[in-house]
Amino acid sequence: MRMEVRKQLSGGSKFPEIDVFGDVYVRPGNELAESFQMTMREKSQLVLQESASQLPPDTPLEDLKVDEKINRDYSYKKAFMPRRELLYQEITHSMPPEKISIFKSLDDWAKDNILTHLKPVEKCWQPQDFLPDPAASRDDGFHEQVKELRERAKEVPDDFFVVLVGNMITEDALPTYQTMLNTLDGVADETGSSPTSWAVWTRAWTAEEKRHGDLLNKYLYLTGRVDMSQIEKTIQYLITFGMDPGGENNPYLGFIFTSFQERATAISHGNTAKLAKKHGDLKLAQICGIIASDEKRHEAAYTKIVTKLFELDPDYTVISLAHMMRKKITMPAHLMYDGRDDHLFQHFSGVAQQLGVYTANDYADILELLLATWKVQTLVGLSPEGRKAQEFVCGLPPRIRKLEERAQARTKQPPMSVPFSWIFGRQVRLL
Ligand SMILES: [Fe+2]
Ligand SMILES: [Fe+2]
Repeated sequence: MRMEVRKQLSGGSKFPEIDVFGDVYVRPGNELAESFQMTMREKSQLVLQESASQLPPDTPLEDLKVDEKINRDYSYKKAFMPRRELLYQEITHSMPPEKISIFKSLDDWAKDNILTHLKPVEKCWQPQDFLPDPAASRDDGFHEQVKELRERAKEVPDDFFVVLVGNMITEDALPTYQTMLNTLDGVADETGSSPTSWAVWTRAWTAEEKRHGDLLNKYLYLTGRVDMSQIEKTIQYLITFGMDPGGENNPYLGFIFTSFQERATAISHGNTAKLAKKHGDLKLAQICGIIASDEKRHEAAYTKIVTKLFELDPDYTVISLAHMMRKKITMPAHLMYDGRDDHLFQHFSGVAQQLGVYTANDYADILELLLATWKVQTLVGLSPEGRKAQEFVCGLPPRIRKLEERAQARTKQPPMSVPFSWIFGRQVRLL
């Protein structure tokens, strides 16, 4: 049976006599290639077994029954859902329907004020601009550049890699964020190629963001310092689990969330750039820095949308801001999981906090800055509910700082070492 499948598999090959899994040329003494060949052999067994169990293409659909026993033993839904306690009770479509017209009427405004924060594709950097050139000549080109990259990465400590990997995974769950934006009433891309300014923004924003995950992912792959399989698994889990920012399909809440988040990512990538520089990896510092500068443009656009909402509809906007802050701004990757560590996100955030890449104080700083940008303190003519919301959000930054200090003092735990599968289970000390 196996031989038959193998014959079938090689049927389409120009070189049927070559076993694609087994006959890899290995230069004598090249241990890396030898171990690669072994892995390929193991994988070939799996591929062959899988192929052997495939049904012929003309199998009638009625014959594709789910195995009752497997269904009983294995809860598929459970396998694709995060742990229950991490989910909110989600409220949907909370924006009063008449407010949709505000966003429709802002389409021209968005064209002149929001799309201007995008960069034309031809003027954008691409991941390849910062990576070894695979088309460069073999001897002094690609291999040399990879060697240099790996030399530089050698000096970078494990805890930094944990944070960089966490940032990369957060970027790579981009399908979730585009989905989130397209759940927002009045601004969603209803066709996938809608010509409204809102839809154009979301698609172009996504396309700009895609470069972030691509660049970090390829860079990390080339360093050889991280377990790419575990990282890829974490990305697959994260996209499968999604996120729950509590946006309620409400663009007021959604754009408050994105204003906050873009600034948070700008801070985070900016701080990883500083750390990379400190560890002597100037190329990596440049990579993190260039990503941070994209995030800043995005922050400017989202913040401007909310500024406009404050101008047109201050009462509902300040109430929305208070509502969002009561729920607390969720981190986009809060449901991350690697198949091993049930507290992966807390552990990753712990390392980020420890290295000063993103801290509880940053959270308070972001809120303070947004309150100042939106001039929330000086809003006038609000309803009693609006005034209450204004008072609540304006008093929040010092309260967050105080609560954080108290929580830190209360939960002062002895230092512990946490293994991260992303760095082959090596431990990182959390103080
Ligand atoms: Fe990004
Ligand atoms: Fe971003």
